[in-house]
Amino acid sequence: MDHGNTRFGCDRKMKSAVILGIESSCDDTSAAIVRDGMLLSNVIANQQIHAAYGGVVPELASRAHQQNIVPVVSEALKRAKVDKSELSAVAFTRGPGLLGSLLVGTSFAKGLAQSLNIPIIDVNHLQGHVLAHFINDDKQDRQKPKFPFLCLLVSGGNSQIICVDDFFKMKIIGQTIDDAAGEAFDKCAKVMGLPYPGGPHVDKLAKTGNPTKFVFSKPNIKDYNYSFSGLKTSFLYFLRDKMAKNENFITENINDLCASLQATVVDILMKKLISAANDLNIKEIALAGGVSANSALRQTFVDYGEKLKWNVFIPPFEYTTDNAAMIATAGYFKYLKNDFCEITEVPFARVEM
Ligand code: KG4
Repeated sequence: MDHGNTRFGCDRKMKSAVILGIESSCDDTSAAIVRDGMLLSNVIANQQIHAAYGGVVPELASRAHQQNIVPVVSEALKRAKVDKSELSAVAFTRGPGLLGSLLVGTSFAKGLAQSLNIPIIDVNHLQGHVLAHFINDDKQDRQKPKFPFLCLLVSGGNSQIICVDDFFKMKIIGQTIDDAAGEAFDKCAKVMGLPYPGGPHVDKLAKTGNPTKFVFSKPNIKDYNYSFSGLKTSFLYFLRDKMAKNENFITENINDLCASLQATVVDILMKKLISAANDLNIKEIALAGGVSANSALRQTFVDYGEKLKWNVFIPPFEYTTDNAAMIATAGYFKYLKNDFCEITEVPFARVEM
């Protein structure tokens, strides 16, 4: 939507568009620079502090964002060899996410943009993940999905099937009714005593495990929706019963446990995606979000793609987890449409699309 913020319109068409993107929705502080659609830098500061608590602590996350935001933005400008006076607009993640975390990025974006007298652009975090497929960098010329396409967006906070008709015309056609897939990985990993975030550890240990050794419950949910809380509970009770008989059960079976858990999550995710693709007769299918870094999900996705004659798209690893490259890229597309946001706009915590 054009917010009618015409005071910035004047001579923009003459100059190149240099967009600073800021991402602070959860526990990664990230800044990126995109010039005329080309990514010049993408800096991410992870917050190690949450590992000690086995999950993201919102108050600590927002404090860490406050510490990180200035050095991360400075580093992004430096690596891009861009002076802040060259910026055309500041794009920021407005939501969904942790409100305290979002407030840091949003406030910083507003303050910087006001001091430079340039517009701000609000970006929906989920749209950012989907538009990660359109990031242009100097590494390789990747194929991009054609509209309409389906995107399975799986992260620590979201599990959704999105029908993408255009850059900003997206519809969530299915989503989790409780936990996200990444949350299921992280919570089950925590029960096994693995560090946070557990998803990558499960992936690594699963490589030498038997995916059919243990069977865990799968949900029976209507339409294209997901549920992962039942799996988490059945995993917990299964381990509790086994540990009562053999206290070394987890250590003796960790690889098989990880492989079986991973296979269950991947199967749940793929079944709904396949039925959505069949029902809508769409063959351009994409993956996005932190869990799309999972090797079994990637492989299964590619295998089904071959079998079902899909054109499949998986973003490079660095653009699967939270990053500002996707926010700056989405911001660039909005900039081209004069789609700016007012300084009075506030962050939102819950899903809006
Ligand atoms: O997109 P993201 O960085 O942040 C959110 O917006 O949530 O996703 C983080 C999630 C975590 O739950 C993490 O465990 C999961 O992605 N993840 C993985 C893998 N790498 C990251 N899950 C399974 N296998 C992986 N290799």
